[in-house]
Amino acid sequence: MTTQLTTNNPSSHAGVNDVGGVQPPANLPDEATIARLANEFFSTLPNSGQNPSGLNLDLPNVAPPPHPPQPAENVTALSGRAPNIAFQKGLNPELPDHIPNLPDYPERRAVASAPVIGGANLPKPPYEPHSPKIAHPQPSIPVVAAEAPRTQSDSPFYFLNQASASSAPSSAYPDLNDFSRGNDHGNIAKSFHLPYGDGLTSLLRNDSPQVQTPQNSQSAFYFLDAFPQNQPHVGNIPQSYHADKTQFTPSSAQPLDVFAIRKDFPILQERVNGRPLVWFDNAATTQKPQSVIDRIAYFYQHENSNIHRAAHELAARATDAYEHARNVVARFIGAKSSKEIIFVRGTTEGINLIAKSWGEQNIGEGDEIIVSNLEHHANIVPWYQLTKKVGAKLRVIPVDDTGQIILEELPKLINDRTKLVSITQVSNALGTVTPVAEVIQIAHAHGVRVLVDGAQSVSHMPTDVQGIDADFFVFSGHKVFGPTGIGAVYAKPEILETMPVWEGGGNMIQDVTFEQVVYQPAPNKFEAGTGNIADAVGLGAALEYVERIGIQNIAAYEHALLDYGQNALSSVSGLRPIGTALNKASVMSFTLEGYSTEEVGKALNQYGIAVRSGHHCAQPILRRFGVEQTVRPSVAFYNTTDEIDLMVSVLHQLSKKRRQY
Ligand code: ALA
Repeated sequence: MTTQLTTNNPSSHAGVNDVGGVQPPANLPDEATIARLANEFFSTLPNSGQNPSGLNLDLPNVAPPPHPPQPAENVTALSGRAPNIAFQKGLNPELPDHIPNLPDYPERRAVASAPVIGGANLPKPPYEPHSPKIAHPQPSIPVVAAEAPRTQSDSPFYFLNQASASSAPSSAYPDLNDFSRGNDHGNIAKSFHLPYGDGLTSLLRNDSPQVQTPQNSQSAFYFLDAFPQNQPHVGNIPQSYHADKTQFTPSSAQPLDVFAIRKDFPILQERVNGRPLVWFDNAATTQKPQSVIDRIAYFYQHENSNIHRAAHELAARATDAYEHARNVVARFIGAKSSKEIIFVRGTTEGINLIAKSWGEQNIGEGDEIIVSNLEHHANIVPWYQLTKKVGAKLRVIPVDDTGQIILEELPKLINDRTKLVSITQVSNALGTVTPVAEVIQIAHAHGVRVLVDGAQSVSHMPTDVQGIDADFFVFSGHKVFGPTGIGAVYAKPEILETMPVWEGGGNMIQDVTFEQVVYQPAPNKFEAGTGNIADAVGLGAALEYVERIGIQNIAAYEHALLDYGQNALSSVSGLRPIGTALNKASVMSFTLEGYSTEEVGKALNQYGIAVRSGHHCAQPILRRFGVEQTVRPSVAFYNTTDEIDLMVSVLHQLSKKRRQY
């Protein structure tokens, strides 16, 4: 039996070598010394070491203060930090009741025979993508199509059955190997499993065996055929994929090599005020791995075109890339088909789309919409606006003193005028994980639809929209390591079918006369105009990155990190945690006696630590706790306990300083 250890504690690296790690050359200083020297060097640079907050802290040369070690907890008490642990315990009573105490740092886990998950930027040679093969309708538009109005069954990809470029002489194409000289485009292309060099030349000549035309394949995508086709499918997704989502147990999660992962994120090498950046503002936005940055660059270098509406090669590439991303989103959230996925700018636009389309169609005077006290303004304002417009009423599920919704109140709020429950899966301000599956069960028992706001949950826990039976699910790409300005709406197909369009324009129509407009079927009818094509492609790459790390592994790592962080914060005198629910993800909101939240944010920034301070666009829930603002560190799977120690030592200094006056 082999044992592998990981840690972010430099002093423990000897331990790694003890169990077979690579011994650094003897003449190199160790990591801690390099870090100290680097800090000393950077702090001598102009503008380093100034303290904009005026608090004159003596940091970070102080040792982190001791704080309580992580307690052994009953698995049910851990359910918030890693909700599936409790879930699995319910399914399998033989699972251990307790997660063993971790000796010190959560990253330093001894795991028998389990490979450590390292970074997941695309390896070279090329990584094999695992994407569902989505069966698209056969394109059937004739070359000259001006007369006939398009029918429902027509594909939006109406150029793909044209033999684009096939008749052009091969000499008409440049030698793409020449083009690749002096840059890394070829390797990048290969790493995305995309054609390049000879392959791309051949593809452009239309003689590549990789090209699957609609005539000879169900797939209109020229580079995708990844999920094994011999296993049973649920819709377009292999059954095993759905099954996998419920098979997370503490022992099935593999430890992460957080140092390898950090190398995937170039921005984590940044320095702020002469210190290494500590990114604890993940609830506001997440950082992007190199594979996402590369994928977007590749799109603009080799694929950029508008989609769905041209007979040329780049339109085909751009369309394939965009539709591939839609497939990835469907797979990632457990949808049955990519046709259930609408690309939008983000969660806010997604909820507005549902409010203005489904909401205006289904909610009228005297009807009621239920939200929870936890909601982000994006899940309050569109419903408030709708109630004002149609004369409906907004009702609110209360939360208890820990910040969890009081589920027993929900049935009391539902009556025969209730049309919708719209609820967040994770509170952006407190980190509470709400029991959305139970909420949906209760609502459905009364015939009420449910919208789940997944903005803060998708990056922290497995999502399975079919498993929880959500009617709508929305999320933003930038919160899950993807680009800004792109997100997705999921809705059940029977809902999408009858939902009216909300914006009008090109791209979403089948036929237009001055007398009549015929729309595309969903999802295209909801995507008027030219969308954010490149960033949708980038979102697909982000979700594939997360899949390679494993969302279960991320959930387990973050659970330990959050536990560590909350314990560490509890050692700071005068610190009041805001939001102490058992079920939490990522967020550690607090106030610090004697300081405004802005002062704390500025002091932390002086040490390179980025946290959000303010009302977090969630004023009702902060007011429920009698505050207008909090300081909100929020972790992701690339954060470390060392970073938490640094933050806590700054807070200790602030607290000590306050006590001295
Ligand atoms: N919704 C984002 C947050 O919670 C902006 O910070």
